[in-house]
Amino acid sequence: MAYEKTAPEAAAELTADAKLEQLVIWLREDLVGELQAINQYQAHINQMDHPEIRSMLEHIRDDEKEHVAELTHLLTRIDAVQKMKFATDHTAAPSDRVVSAPDEVSGLTVGNMFGQK
Ligand SMILES: [Fe+2]
Repeated sequence: MAYEKTAPEAAAELTADAKLEQLVIWLREDLVGELQAINQYQAHINQMDHPEIRSMLEHIRDDEKEHVAELTHLLTRIDAVQKMKFATDHTAAPSDRVVSAPDEVSGLTVGNMFGQK
């Protein structure tokens, strides 16, 4: 029977710098998973007619968005370059933004951001 090291076992053999790099890689992979989950929930929401189920899926989708934020913040604590990149506002000019102020975010859905229900 073949023996494969688990991720923690493999990480135990790494130097401190290599462990941090491995952690960053895993966090990026986790971030990809969270983003894909948001898209999947949104696709299901768009197909869902039942209001209660739709509402629950929207709640779960928004939980995934919180996970994206948590992972992103964790990444910036470990990856100094990423932290520097997030410190710069890369979005469009204020007049071109879909959302121009934080208080306008509440109540927004993907649909109404694009002028739909
Ligand atoms: Fe999640």
